[in-house]
Amino acid sequence: MTDEGESLFIKPVLKQELDFYNTIKKETSNENSLLKSNAENRGVLPLNEWIPKYIGSMSKTSNVSKEDLEKMGELANAPMQLNNENKNCISEPQYIVLENLLNGYKTPNVMDIKLGRILYDDSASIDKKNRLIKVSSETTSGSLGFRICGMKLANQGESNYNLFRSSEFCYNNTNTYISVNKTFGRRLKTPVEIRDSLNLFFSNHLMGEAYTTNLLKMFNKRIEALIDTLENTKSKFISSSILLIFESNIDRIKQHGLDDELIDSDYDIISYLEESCDVDQAMEIEGEMIDIEDIKGGISLSKLKLVDFSHAVIGKNTNTGVDSNTIDGLKSLNDVLLQLIKAI
Ligand SMILES: Nc1ncnc2c1ncn2[C@@H]1O[C@H](COP(=O)(O)OP(=O)(O)O)[C@@H](O)[C@H]1O
Ligand SMILES: [Mg+2]
Repeated sequence: MTDEGESLFIKPVLKQELDFYNTIKKETSNENSLLKSNAENRGVLPLNEWIPKYIGSMSKTSNVSKEDLEKMGELANAPMQLNNENKNCISEPQYIVLENLLNGYKTPNVMDIKLGRILYDDSASIDKKNRLIKVSSETTSGSLGFRICGMKLANQGESNYNLFRSSEFCYNNTNTYISVNKTFGRRLKTPVEIRDSLNLFFSNHLMGEAYTTNLLKMFNKRIEALIDTLENTKSKFISSSILLIFESNIDRIKQHGLDDELIDSDYDIISYLEESCDVDQAMEIEGEMIDIEDIKGGISLSKLKLVDFSHAVIGKNTNTGVDSNTIDGLKSLNDVLLQLIKAI
């Protein structure tokens, strides 16, 4: 779900994911945080940079603080109300409110890749554990340490959509998008099939090879930086995903130029623009008149984020140190990107 302005993304969560986001929030504002210690000094990005901004949590029955509601903007009128964390009144169902990672994008392409060979945690029942061991052994989760879970592709009319079987994808009502479901990624077995799928994804635009190359290089840098972060963070991410997102709208790409940041500042830029929504064309920043279009031009063209923390733990809750299951999956994905870059 999103709010009316589509700047927020709302999803139902269980306690563990809520706890995860609350820990991240607490640690981000803590000077001696486990997210920052020895990481920032060495130029390693703290974990929160890789995670959607967390606005708060909501449930149907809880009380609302005015300040939080202001933060939530349009959601003030929504039927659900914000959960005031201090009031410890957790009731089901619970929702988290995150930044909508697609806000600011005109024609985004999105791929969800589930990381890790091991897909279950200690809390899984024997049945569930056996089922997930089987899924891993039959898919690239087991062989490569990652699996394509789904994709949303801007319909570019490409003939190579014939990589997908008819049961694996569908068009939206207006034929502008293709949604590829999880059965596609589960069917892939070989490194070549994975390479072809990633190649199709990163080429799904009409900007030519230079843009594809740029995207591959940016995501390669991001994956390496994320590995660096995880190698410096006590964490365990069972069954989490990375989202790869990039713009394919030609006007936005041309306006932006191909250079892009490792980590976007989209939420800050969009919040800033929303706060100044009564301004038409230009606004004054530190004494200078800046065109609104130039500020919008700062919204990223592509980004990589970690999502889905229903089985994730960080910091003192992990006995395990760093998360080699997730790191190995990222390394193996990075190898495929490096092969694609080499083949250009
Ligand atoms: N903050 C976000 N902004 C935009 N889209 C998101 C965001 N978080 C998740 N999504 C989308 O929703 C999908 C499901 O989210 P996820 O956190 O994996 O939930 P689930 O527990 O249902 O798998 C992701 O594949 C992604 O496409
Ligand atoms: Mg998921």
